[in-house]
Amino acid sequence: MRRGGRYLVTGGAGGVGAPLVASLADRYGARFLLVGRRDPERDAALRTVLSGLAVPGRDVRYRSVDVRDAEALERAAAEAEAAWGGPLDGVLHLAGDYRFRPIAEEDPADWEPIRQPKVIGLLNLADLVRRRPGARLVTFSSLLGHLASAGCAAYGAGNAFADAFTEHLVARAGVTAHSLAWGLWRGLGVNEDNPYEAAAVQRGVLSLPADQGHLLTRVLLRRPPGVLYAGLNPRAAEIRTRMSGTGPLERLSCHSPGLPGEPLVYTDPFGVTAEVVREENASPADGDGSLTPVESATWETLRQTMTDFTGQPVQPGDRLYELGVSSIQLLQLRARLEAALGVDVPNAALFEQPTLLDLACSLTR
Ligand SMILES: NC(=O)c1ccc[n+]([C@@H]2O[C@H](COP(=O)([O-])OP(=O)(O)OC[C@H]3O[C@@H](n4cnc5c(N)ncnc54)[C@H](OP(=O)(O)O)[C@@H]3O)[C@@H](O)[C@H]2O)c1
Repeated sequence: MRRGGRYLVTGGAGGVGAPLVASLADRYGARFLLVGRRDPERDAALRTVLSGLAVPGRDVRYRSVDVRDAEALERAAAEAEAAWGGPLDGVLHLAGDYRFRPIAEEDPADWEPIRQPKVIGLLNLADLVRRRPGARLVTFSSLLGHLASAGCAAYGAGNAFADAFTEHLVARAGVTAHSLAWGLWRGLGVNEDNPYEAAAVQRGVLSLPADQGHLLTRVLLRRPPGVLYAGLNPRAAEIRTRMSGTGPLERLSCHSPGLPGEPLVYTDPFGVTAEVVREENASPADGDGSLTPVESATWETLRQTMTDFTGQPVQPGDRLYELGVSSIQLLQLRARLEAALGVDVPNAALFEQPTLLDLACSLTR
């Protein structure tokens, strides 16, 4: 992200978009034009979101535009550029819709509003970006474009297109484009009250709290353009299998926050490697850098306590339930941690924090 930059965000008033825009605006002093189909004059929920974003020091505007309408998109962008006195530095494409529907019950009226923002919307935005040399295009897509899942045919098709088209833009059209294929953003947007979240986590899709998602976004946007898979658990059997079965034309890179350590590299039968990039610096409590001194001290105490308790060395990316700690032992562990750290350890933290490092950081705050 460019400090003080100018960005168009489609779907920017949505569940993932609004907190992301707030965090990027505060961090980079960047200016944002959000677009969505709804009209704030008629939608009280949208007015609440926009007034939450409108704090002094931020420049966040909103226009009612459907991403399928290329002319309206260009008009809105040009109007903001005139006000800002310069061209867009980039577009973040988050507009999308999701509905669970068995494929046998699909009909065009339901299918198209789900698929089109990811297809027609992205084609329109690619043209808009190409008219602005140097601007970048970032699409938020979904792992559901790759992992077969019931009831998600239209959504999966749209996201698979978004990833494939991004590869094309990078390879053939010279556009600086990323497609971030996300797992789950915990409790946000299309994942709010998702009855299938636990099942997805079981398969190896991480459910990322917003602050980890924001950090991972910043980390990934510093990587070379292309498709990046964000929020997979490389230890889950299905993910492991898929990565080791990668075909010769694919190169998978899976990014996971809070899993520091050596990168895992899988080699398929054709000798192509698939890499798990553990984001070393992806401490939820820190920005782009390493742990703060207080977090490091908490982590060291937690590491020592856990090692004594389990009788084996633990790693920052370890998960409590994978260490075989039973629910009775959890009570004992909680007491030991409270004694060692001198802070209350909420029961919920032991279940909610994905990794031991996350737990340490959450206890520091
Ligand atoms: N939440 C997750 O866990 C998750 C996981 C993986 C990927 N993603 C991706 O992340 C993106 C944001 O998702 P979210 O969870 O924030 O969903 P969300 O809360 O439903 O927000 C999406 C926004 O897109 C806008 N939109 C939909 N169709 C549009 C169109 N044709 N033109 C303009 N705007 C349109 C909607 O606003 P209007 O109704 O006003 O148009 C809505 O506010 C999506 O692309 C989604 O596929 C999310």
